[in-house]
Parts: sequence; C-alpha cells; structure tokens
Amino acid sequence: MYRTHTCGELRLSNAGQEVTLSGWVQKSRKLGGMTFIDLRDRYGITQLVVEATADAALVETASSLGREFVIQAKGQVVERQSKNPKMDTGDIEIIVSTINILNKSVTPPFTIEENSDGGEDLRAKYRYLDLRRQPLQRALALRHRLAQEIRTYLDQQGFMEIETPYLIKSTPEGARDFVVPSRMNPGQFYALPQSPQTFKQLLMVAGYDRYFQIVRCFRDEDLRADRQPEFTQIDCEMSFVEQEDVLNTFEGMMRQMFRNAVGVEIQNPIPRMTWYDAMDNYGSDKPDIRFGMTIHEITSLVQNHGFSVFDSVPYVGGIAVPGAAEYTRKQLDELTEWVKRPQVGAKGLVYIKYNADGSVKSSIDKFYSPEEVKAIAEATGAKAGDLALIMCGGKRKAQNMLGVLRIEMGNRLGMRDPKVFAPLWIVDFPLFEWDDETNRFYAMHHPFTAPKPEHIDWYYSDKKEDLERVCANAYDFVLNGTELGGGSIRIHEAAMQERMFEILGISKEEAEYKFGFIINAFKFGAPPHGGLAFGFDRVCALFGGQETIRDYIAFPKNNQGRDQMIDAPSEIDQTQLDELYLDIRPLE
Ligand code: AMO
Repeated sequence: MYRTHTCGELRLSNAGQEVTLSGWVQKSRKLGGMTFIDLRDRYGITQLVVEATADAALVETASSLGREFVIQAKGQVVERQSKNPKMDTGDIEIIVSTINILNKSVTPPFTIEENSDGGEDLRAKYRYLDLRRQPLQRALALRHRLAQEIRTYLDQQGFMEIETPYLIKSTPEGARDFVVPSRMNPGQFYALPQSPQTFKQLLMVAGYDRYFQIVRCFRDEDLRADRQPEFTQIDCEMSFVEQEDVLNTFEGMMRQMFRNAVGVEIQNPIPRMTWYDAMDNYGSDKPDIRFGMTIHEITSLVQNHGFSVFDSVPYVGGIAVPGAAEYTRKQLDELTEWVKRPQVGAKGLVYIKYNADGSVKSSIDKFYSPEEVKAIAEATGAKAGDLALIMCGGKRKAQNMLGVLRIEMGNRLGMRDPKVFAPLWIVDFPLFEWDDETNRFYAMHHPFTAPKPEHIDWYYSDKKEDLERVCANAYDFVLNGTELGGGSIRIHEAAMQERMFEILGISKEEAEYKFGFIINAFKFGAPPHGGLAFGFDRVCALFGGQETIRDYIAFPKNNQGRDQMIDAPSEIDQTQLDELYLDIRPLE
C-alpha cells in the first residue's frame, strides 16, 4: 500500500497514529540536525520531520532528497510545536521512521510552489510541472466542480447529453475555420466546428427536445486573455420554447452554480438591459455594472459655442470619474496619451476638473463660461470633487471609446472587485449589422437567429432602414464586463430561413451548398426552438475571480496559437503530405 492518507488529510485528531504518505518533495531544509520536508500531493502539503537522533541511514536518505523526488514516508503524527495556521495540516507533523525513494527527479526548471519563479514561456514548456502547483490545481478542481453542477442541473431539467461530430463542414459563427484534409477524399477538407450550432438544431428537428453538451469548439481568430483557438462551450438547445423559457432555465443553472460551487447568491431575477441601452449608457454590449460612471450624451449642450471639434461631429458624450478632480496635469496628459493608443483610437480627450470648492478648470475654458463648463460637467454626472472626461465622434464609435475609458478608470480606482458578481442579460440586439466596406448586412449573432415576432414586417421590407430596425430574438449573458454566453430563438421555417440568406447576400446556390442540409431538414416539421451556449472556460475563470482563461485549461495554447509543451503546430513529413495530395508552397 503506497499510502494510508493523502498529504492534505491529517489533523490534530490523528495525533499518535502511524501513517504512510506518498508524494513529491516540494522542499527540504536542515535545521539543527533535523530535516524538515514539505511533502506535496493534489490534496495538500504535510510537514515531515527526520530527527537528528534517527538512524544514520534514514538521516542520509533525508539529506539526499532533491526537489520533486517522489517518496513514500512512514511515521507518527504528532502535534507541532510551532503551528502554521495558513496550512490545513499546519497543526501536525510526521516524525518519520522510514523513507522509500520511489523515483528521483532532475532539478526542476522553476520552483513548484504557490508563487513560482518561472517565466510564462518556461512554465508553458513544462506545463505538467506548472500543473503541480496548487493555484492551478485549485483552478482545475473548480472547473471539475462546475462541470458536475452543470450536468446535475441540466439532467434534472430533462436535458440529454449528446455528442456531435468534430469533422464537419463550415459552421456560421463568423470566425475562420480550422480545416482538416481528408485522405480518403483527395482535395477535400473537413472544417472543425466553431460550435455545434447546426447539429443541435437538427437534434431538435429529430425530436430530442432538450439537448446539451460540454463540447470543444475551434475558431481561428486573434487570441487574447479570454480567447483560445480551442475552447469549451456549455452548448444547449430546447424545443417549444420562447425567449422567456430559455432565460429562466439558464438563470436557474447559473444560480445553482454560484450557490453550490462558490457559495454566492446572485441577484434574483438577473437584471435585463436592451442592447441599445447598453451601448448608450456603457458604450459596450457587455457592460460591467459593478460600478456606475455611466456615459451621458451632451451633444446639444456643447454644440454651437464655436468649438469646432464638438461642432463637427454627430455625438459628444462624457463620464464623471468620482473623486478624481485632483488629477494633476501630468496624469491628465498620460490619460490623453492612453486614449490615443490604437486600442482605443481617440483623437483626444477633453477634461473638466470640478473642484471640491465648486470651481472648475477645463481644457475648453476658451469656448465656454465657467457656468457653462460647470453645467457641462454636471451633465456628465459630475459632482464637486469629480473629473468629467469627454470624447466625441460618430455615435457608436465615441460611445465605444468612452466605454473602454470607463473600464480603465474603474480599474484604476479599484471599482472592479473580482469577488463581486454582477450578472445581467443583454436582450433586443439588432438582427443585422451593416458594413460600409463590403456594402452588405451581416448577422449580428448568426444566420439562424429569428427576428422578434413584432418586427416581422420590417424583416420582409426591402428598405435598408427597416432592416436596420429589426431586433433579434437573441440574448447574451454578461458577467462583470465579460460575455459569458449567448443564444437566440431560431428560425424554424424554411421560407424565413431563405429570406435570411437573401438579406445577407448569400445566393440560393451558396446557401444550398453550405446549409442545404438544414434548409432541407426544416421542410420536415421543425419545431419552434431556441438555445444558447456559455463559454465554459470563461465561466470557470470568472468564478475563480480571474480574467484570463488559460489557467483554467489543463493544456492551453499561447497567444500565437502554439502549444509550447508539445511544440505544435509543426511540419509534417513528405509521406503524409503525399497521402493527402498536399503541396506546401514556400513562404513568400
Ligand atoms: P457564441 O459565438 O456567442 O455563440 O459563443 C458562445 C460563447 O462561447 C465563448 N467563446 C469563447 N471562449 C473562449 N475562446 C474563444 N475563442 C471563444 N469564442 C466564443 C463566449 C461566448 O459567449 N452557437 C452559438 C450559441 C447559440 O446561438 O446557441 C455560439 O457559438 O463566452
């Protein structure tokens, strides 16, 4: 028997017992002839002590232990002289009688402790060593717990877990596909699913009523903290439902996950906000509502005072940063440079310091009287002591920039506490987005999303302004400024689906080639249906109080889409290329 207990298990109540533990040597140190060893496994760390008076062979074995050696130790549990309240096992230690080295280790390239000294690349290369660290073990344990909660809840609600294929045809989520060449069908390619969207709809046509899957999805897009090229969705679909049914079902799931996995009660009911209000007030379709600092439009108040910057644009808006009137010139200059970075894209930033004594100081004093400046500051929501920050331009662009600035100021002022959870639903999205460059409409969610029933007339209208007004029967679940999930009520009639392709400029032939199977299926009695998908990696990270999802994935990719541990992607040999009828062109 390798062990009687784990390294996280023993307490004062075990004092006196003879035990056997197995695990990794996190570190060992000598003190006055005694050797102290921190023995680690998935469950925790236990302190082992080899006394100076122990037999010589044991003392020698203890001295020979290096970091990450795998050992088995036998001994007696005793109460510690100096207890460590930070450790679960901190009240006891083991007085060791025998040590058996199960396996040696070369010196690890970084310290495997709560905080490692290894850089990101090194830890990615030796991911299996990084995964030994407790923060990562806690992250993956949370992921496991959440997956169990999800399965239990959805099973109770009558959902069936059904797998769908990975080698498929392109799906319409709007990113680039990863493709896989087919050896048996030379010159032809599978696409990896960006989501199981079409399959789950076909399962509804097949009468499965309630489907879910915790499933891998693949998207070849630019990567960032909350995006991986392969990520996991909690993917769901339901038949004979309206938007309200879907929202209620998944509010229930989220509530149960928060309660059982992190012991938090979230707001009941979860608030809802239209896409239009989110854009106008927060400059984002995924607003962080943990703090105020909302955007106020001040266009009519500031125009026609001879300030050409404001007079030449359709929109001027501002936010009021609480208690920031004391910002120095240097800080304001730095902030102005910050908004000019390409990631924000502003041409400049107008400020008004609304001082605690009621006086004002601004970068637009030349064009407005002090009373006018004060009125403008107040219109952004500022009170004495606050700093008003103003940007202008096209309406959505300016709102978006103000939204980015709002989040930055929220970060700087410590208003985004990761332990506070503020979920909300965004509803009433526009169905279509017009793109000036390509001169065509795009589906804001995906082309299977139904218009709101009350907007059906506009949906069949030929006028661009009517189509722009059509709202989608779609919804997003947002938590603390991150889009955690999204979905919609689907089109289930072939004629309405064909109209969608027509509006999107997809020809009958192209629609038939890409989606013929689903258009055809709809002709065989498709039930009304709808669903949604949550980004599971994002759910885990936010529940764990983090914004980057990488630590919640056992073997993630870096920002270049590489797995540095297995060194993928990599070249393949000529035989494989020949089998696949592929030629590699030299890089130009
Ligand atoms: P959508 O494209 O909004 O919807 O994706 C659903 C959720 O998946 C997460 N997500 C990602 N997470 C990590 N890395 C990525 N690259 C990534 N891309 C998306 C987000 C997002 O909210 N088929 C529809 C759902 C439906 O209509 O039912 C879909 O895939 O959290």
